[in-house]
Amino acid sequence: MPDDRDLIRSRIDLADLVGERVKLSRSGKKWKGLCPFHAEKTPSFYVDSELQLFHCFGCKKGGDIFAWVMESEAVDFREAIEMLAGRAGVELTRGSGAKPDETRRRLEIMEDALSFFREAFSSSELTKSYSQSRGLNEETLALWQIGFAPATEYALGTYLGKKKHALREAQELGLLTSTPDGYLDFFRNRLMFPIRDEQGRLVGFSGRSMDGTEPKYINTRESPLFHKGSTLFGLHQARQLLKADRRAVLVEGQMDVIACHGAGLPAVAPLGTALTENQAQKLKRYCDEAVVLYDGDGAGRAAAQKAFEALGGVGIRRSAVVLGAGEDPDTVLTKLGAEGLKTLVDNRVSPLRFRISWLIRTHERDLTSPEFWEAAESELARSTSLLEVDSIIDELSAYHPNARVDRMAVVSALRNQVNARRTARKGTRNIAVKQTGTISKPRAPERLLLLAALDQEFRSETWPMLAEDDLIVSDGGRSIADALLAYSADPPAAGRGEIARALDEEMRIALMSLEASQDPFGGAVEPLSAAAIADARERLLKEKARR
Ligand code: UTP
Ligand code: MN
Repeated sequence: MPDDRDLIRSRIDLADLVGERVKLSRSGKKWKGLCPFHAEKTPSFYVDSELQLFHCFGCKKGGDIFAWVMESEAVDFREAIEMLAGRAGVELTRGSGAKPDETRRRLEIMEDALSFFREAFSSSELTKSYSQSRGLNEETLALWQIGFAPATEYALGTYLGKKKHALREAQELGLLTSTPDGYLDFFRNRLMFPIRDEQGRLVGFSGRSMDGTEPKYINTRESPLFHKGSTLFGLHQARQLLKADRRAVLVEGQMDVIACHGAGLPAVAPLGTALTENQAQKLKRYCDEAVVLYDGDGAGRAAAQKAFEALGGVGIRRSAVVLGAGEDPDTVLTKLGAEGLKTLVDNRVSPLRFRISWLIRTHERDLTSPEFWEAAESELARSTSLLEVDSIIDELSAYHPNARVDRMAVVSALRNQVNARRTARKGTRNIAVKQTGTISKPRAPERLLLLAALDQEFRSETWPMLAEDDLIVSDGGRSIADALLAYSADPPAAGRGEIARALDEEMRIALMSLEASQDPFGGAVEPLSAAAIADARERLLKEKARR
């Protein structure tokens, strides 16, 4: 109801709320920070306290407090208004969301259904022997509260009826199916895995057939409690472990999650669908890095690529493990034990190496084939981490048909090919930018600051200036500053050569032109000194004030 919303709005300040999750700094009348919804190095996310609205100029997300909670907590409007009402101390009037007792009642139905499945489990010999064959011991079964849905038609409905629950509500929750003959048990003859949300509330189930019946798994359909696209199996259990190292292991299914947790790894799974942006967003609250540990088959590889994209979209650092053909975390645990599984995760690689490993695997029979080299070069040219590209080229060169003749020549030829491809890719982009006429060269004071940041003597004081609001503003200067900040947010210890080598070719050329003694664009650069740096900064601040 509008009344409730207005009351909540009047009691909660958006900047306070956002400030709990995003580091905000004043920028005129607004607040500004790094957008939590996409990866970025310079802030394009604004909160306007006057209007009580947020907006990101990068990813275009925006809205009021309700939109903020829906986006940042990955919840629907109902849940958002309930959360905010709780915070504001507003009692919601009817119709403005799920009433607290409605949610409580729903959760009770789910928990009662779980009791039913758990009881059925302990009285079924077949289920016990099946779980044993899957390596699920007593402790694991108890920890994950694994149950059994018997091959009956009305048993769960009867049980819930006796508990005085409305069967229509159980049907809404996906536990029963409505038929002309009444409410039928939805899950039949399946091993039951309870699905909890990150707060531990029982929101759904996943049921596995034990006799080869297809589909192998059936999950609860969308319900007032269960939203598959924003639920991660295992997140509730992983949260504790994630506090320690903030590195999650992303796997495909519940058996994998259970196996990983058995080895002490904080694993979560999107339950067989491609990782959604909502799920990635949710994960980001608890981790900085995700290790993608998907099945060692083609489907796993394709799903891993999708996961990289979703994780990259929200700015989670990505890494991956390549499993053998036919392996998944569950089979690895059985074969190699907990330590073996952990070692695999410790030896994780970058997404680039993951893709190269897969290329090697698919061309295993003939690594000298032109198709392999074509694909490898194209993959390498796409990457911006030049150091890694160089070391992969060194390793791959051993397989090249000409390696036995002259390995060094192979390495340098490969480097040239990859660079040429990269430039070709860039070229198409550059032309587009140039046509809009927006490229502006860094002018003398900007160039001085950039050079000082690269200089080891002046670096620690100058590096932070690269990130200063509206100080370095020319497109050319800004892109160099951003590339340096992307290399390291804090002043790095590396020499300037090492930093330059880590940048891509375009940036290296831009750096070189900074150092040219005659500046065709904006005057010569003075020799570096503390005074010259202070002076350059002054000039830029004055220009900023004038703007
Ligand atoms: P997998 O086929 O890899 O299953 O699907 P699994 O995890 O290895 O399971 P086991 O070891 O054979 O029991 C990965 C995940 O995809 C979902 C499930 O969540 C499963 O864990 N899935 C799979 C479905 O939802 N439906 C299916 O029919 C199959
Ligand atoms: Mn699997």
